[in-house]
Amino acid sequence: MNTPVAPNTDIAQALDDAKAAYAKGNPTSAALYQKALPMMPGGNTRSGVFFDPFPLMFRRGEGARLWDEDGHSYVDVLGEATAGIYGHNHPTIRAAIDDRLALGWNLSGATASEAVLAGIVVDRFPSIERVRFVNSGTEANMFNVQLARIVTGRPAVLGFAGCYHGGLLTFTAQTNPLNVPFETVIAPYNDIEATAAAIDANADKLAAVIIEPMIGGGGCIPATVEFLAMLRERTKKHDIALIFDEVMTSRLSPGGLQAKYGIIPDLTSLGKYIGGGFSAGAFGGKAEWMERFDPRRGDALPHSGTYNNNVFTMAAGIAGLSKIYTKEAAVALNAKGDAFRDRLNAICAKADVALQFTGIGSMLAPHVLRGPITSPQVAATGNAKLRELLFFDLVANGIFIMPKRCLMALSLPLTDRDFDIFAAAVEEFIHSRRSLLR
Ligand SMILES: Cc1ncc(COP(=O)(O)O)c(C=O)c1O
Repeated sequence: MNTPVAPNTDIAQALDDAKAAYAKGNPTSAALYQKALPMMPGGNTRSGVFFDPFPLMFRRGEGARLWDEDGHSYVDVLGEATAGIYGHNHPTIRAAIDDRLALGWNLSGATASEAVLAGIVVDRFPSIERVRFVNSGTEANMFNVQLARIVTGRPAVLGFAGCYHGGLLTFTAQTNPLNVPFETVIAPYNDIEATAAAIDANADKLAAVIIEPMIGGGGCIPATVEFLAMLRERTKKHDIALIFDEVMTSRLSPGGLQAKYGIIPDLTSLGKYIGGGFSAGAFGGKAEWMERFDPRRGDALPHSGTYNNNVFTMAAGIAGLSKIYTKEAAVALNAKGDAFRDRLNAICAKADVALQFTGIGSMLAPHVLRGPITSPQVAATGNAKLRELLFFDLVANGIFIMPKRCLMALSLPLTDRDFDIFAAAVEEFIHSRRSLLR
């Protein structure tokens, strides 16, 4: 375990102290990071896992535990930002991979397995009548958006401030110069009136409305059912494609949030855990639109991709969804998550501090803020430095969540004892940082 940090009365000072203690306690991660700097910009190839002063370097994982290069162990409550739902080294996933290893890989063609995984996906997610696989959630969104632009013959896409759809399509606080170069209209999340007006005003140029039905990495902020229902109604009225980016949220019920709410988009993007923990993405929806990719057609849309049917992803995805994260397991894990979030919020309420946990089911996120959090704009008024301090205090207590934004995604192997450890660490944070949380 890292050395716990002393509480402090000044937030900036407390955070500096926490980072200094972190740096002191993790010399091997620091040295490995220094080594990486000359080859990779910022010593990093995945901006989301970077944090100041340097990211922890992980060495291995088992179940819901992680070990870093300095030998500290952590309860993994980040769960690879929803992709790691099975935990580390799950024996069933491992057996599926071992079986595949024996048969070889890079087989130069189609295999039986992609149709098996496709069958599971089509069975689970109501909007997906036909599916195609890709390698990431980013790619899934790119293909869905481009398909929408082709079938509607219109150029623009409406997205929501605070939503993340991969590194090439983000509507988060900073404008993203890497966004794909087509016109976007940005609307306010959960604001029914303003969004309806924006859709109506731009209807003649909008190909698609794309939304995370719960903002995931941006703070686990659920869309209201009324808001999603309005999107469905308005997009249908104007023949605009409604795309649900369920890359993260598809795990929140057996059929994703679309099934939970009974609001069925035209197209859905999937990723993360869908490949059993291997690189994965999938896009799909209406058969009539997806058939545009049928290579037997003279006018078929191209969709190649060397690793679209990567045998490890297919094997791990099939094993995961058919043997582990069954529909029943999805219901059970999300019920556990709801109870856990209620427990944490009860701790915060009892202590009467400006701290709360938002989310649905197995995905949650802390906010240093009182009152309802209905949009990223409201969430942004929370104290980001204190939340960062929570991250470092948790790390010092042997718990890992997402740096800075503090996303938590529960994995199946987390035990009641792990939940107790986390709840105790939150109580400890409230106790030691009480003066800062007022
Ligand atoms: C909602 C959402 N969409 C898309 C993506 C991009 O997925 P990937 O990182 O697999 O490209 C993410 C990743 O976090 C995501 O949370």
